[in-house]
Amino acid sequence: MSGIGTMRKKCLDSRFGTKAVWHGTHIIEGSVVTPIFNSSTYQLTDDIYDGWEEGAQHTLLYSRVSSLNSEAVAARVATLENAEDGEMFDSGMSAISATLLALLSKGDHMVGCGDMYGGAYGLITEDLPRFGIEATMADIRDPSSYAAAIKPNTKILYVETITNPVLKVCDLEAMAAIAKKNNLIAICDNTFASPWACNPISMGFDLVIHSGSKYLGGHSDLIGGLVVGNKELISEIFSKKITMGGAADPNMCFLLERGIKTLHVRMPAHTQNAAELAKRLNVHPMIESVNHCSLPDYADYQVAQRIIPKGNGMLSYVVKGGNEAALHYLRSLELIFEATSLGGVESLAECPFNTSHMFVPEEVRNELGIVPGFVRMSVGIEDVEDLWDDMDNALESTKTFVNS
Ligand SMILES: Cc1ncc(COP(=O)(O)O)c(C=O)c1O
Repeated sequence: MSGIGTMRKKCLDSRFGTKAVWHGTHIIEGSVVTPIFNSSTYQLTDDIYDGWEEGAQHTLLYSRVSSLNSEAVAARVATLENAEDGEMFDSGMSAISATLLALLSKGDHMVGCGDMYGGAYGLITEDLPRFGIEATMADIRDPSSYAAAIKPNTKILYVETITNPVLKVCDLEAMAAIAKKNNLIAICDNTFASPWACNPISMGFDLVIHSGSKYLGGHSDLIGGLVVGNKELISEIFSKKITMGGAADPNMCFLLERGIKTLHVRMPAHTQNAAELAKRLNVHPMIESVNHCSLPDYADYQVAQRIIPKGNGMLSYVVKGGNEAALHYLRSLELIFEATSLGGVESLAECPFNTSHMFVPEEVRNELGIVPGFVRMSVGIEDVEDLWDDMDNALESTKTFVNS
């Protein structure tokens, strides 16, 4: 559609891994990958005017709107999510804010939940009300609470496949059915699951949002975001990119396109490592409790079997001895890195009480399940025995917090 470069037709009807490697690649002068195409503007030709009539967002005109590299990534993620169309942004938050600001107007209402990503939660509860858009926060684990929150002016039902940091798993099928029955636009942030583990559109969602900064990129070296889904809705969202900005830089898109090529190879390693660590932590004397979808005694095990049966690489657990003990544990780790964010090949761990949920009052944190000693870990693809040695040694050195 861009008019620059060619695409390989063979990958159009191929399987997930083949699409992850090839779909959307713009081959220029025989290049195997989409080259970084750093041009802020493009030659005006009659083709461009034809393109604008057909669907403006896929016609290369000016790089504040889209570039060859952002087109490649949007096409690839759209196909991996079984979506009709997609738009690329400079961050996950840009994708979320453009989506909500495009689809909601003064007097509209949406339903979300208290477990949402902090940036999205702030936008919905603090910024949107300034423009006369209201939200009700329901319980992500209870689809009937979403149904009960719907009002005559409700327009959007918003969920995340897996929540942060408690890792609650949303019953996407039930949520999509509620949205359909009430004629709402169903939006799912699928960042924590990745398209490898879950395709919300196939379960009835209209739009799927990703922070490309996480599993899609996969190497902790970029910030990017996407929204994919229904063609007409994507076109409306695109129009807000023209007026509000948020276009992605070609250099970042190049890295993201490269990262996605190995998504289907990285994800099994993340999930297997996380499941193995969850099993060992679950019987460790220094651990109070473990949240992971692979554990039969985990609250969302049954839902997870249906929604994310291949598993997930995120893990959270409660270290005995409270927040002081958890911090000591984190700082005793020699391999696993204390840092926020997730989805990279490197294992990262953090305490939400002094990072992502620092401004959430303690009683609200406790209600959400972020109790003292809570640790969130993005399990990387290192050798699992090295990860376990590191965790076991750090837990051993934390014993004094319990015995003293
Ligand atoms: C679930 C989820 N959605 C959206 C975002 C925002 O993405 P970004 O940091 O790329 O703006 C994040 C960031 O951590 C996230 O965890």
